[in-house]
Amino acid sequence: MSVFKNLSRRVRQPFHARYAFRRLQEYHAAPRSLAEVVDWAMHFGGGGWMRVKTLQLPSEITRLAEAVAAIKPRIILEIGTASGGTALIWAALASERVISCDLIDMSRQRPLFSRFPPPGSSCRVILLSGNSHDPSFRERVAGELAGYQVDFLFIDGDHTEAGVTADYEDYRGFVRPGGLIAFHDILENQPLPTNQVYHLWKRLKQRAPTEEFVTEGNQSGFGIGLLHVPEQGAPTVAGVPE
Ligand SMILES: C[S@@+](CC[C@H](N)C(=O)[O-])C[C@H]1O[C@@H](n2cnc3c(N)ncnc32)[C@H](O)[C@@H]1O
Repeated sequence: MSVFKNLSRRVRQPFHARYAFRRLQEYHAAPRSLAEVVDWAMHFGGGGWMRVKTLQLPSEITRLAEAVAAIKPRIILEIGTASGGTALIWAALASERVISCDLIDMSRQRPLFSRFPPPGSSCRVILLSGNSHDPSFRERVAGELAGYQVDFLFIDGDHTEAGVTADYEDYRGFVRPGGLIAFHDILENQPLPTNQVYHLWKRLKQRAPTEEFVTEGNQSGFGIGLLHVPEQGAPTVAGVPE
């Protein structure tokens, strides 16, 4: 980010924060259906560091949220917080904890994002900043979990083939049997050459039961892949050809 843009964001931060907390109050003013939660994740709005948004397609993220809600998750782990849109959804679903990780420093967003869970919820939102590929970062996640297993893991960080494969291999062991692991941008037809999740997805489909949530067959980009973790745990893809 340019020095000017950063300075301008800093100056406007108090206004952005006031607006965002007002929006959060509106969101919390009534019990929300899952469809409403998804709609808030897409249209919460705001500016600067306090903007809340998800870049998911509504029908895809709604189907994923329904699948996650069906397993009544206690703990959700997410790689790729960005503007907190999906974290808002997970915070409405998890009964105990959402751990959301991103490369970017989340200190300004923390006061807002940590208040995402609806009134009366016992869920805590924990934001971790760091590189998911760093072994010491994985240890921090393990420390936060303190031996507990995750019900749902959402991998939406590094989209390169090597990056998403490393995230899957490094974090799959945290997910309980019967739990879920989802990936964003599984379609082969992607607008960015660095979106290479489909390489991993093709291999994973051979190893465990999966579902695909895709809005239109011929769309460019997006697509969510959901893996149902078998009793023996999420399988490695090492040695599995495409
Ligand atoms: C597509 S965005 C996540 C969107 C978010 N899940 C949503 O839909 O609301 C991807 C995020 O992953 C983060 N990211 C990329 N590589 C990462 C890595 N190695 N470790 C942690 N976060 C990473 C980026 O900084 C970016 O904010």
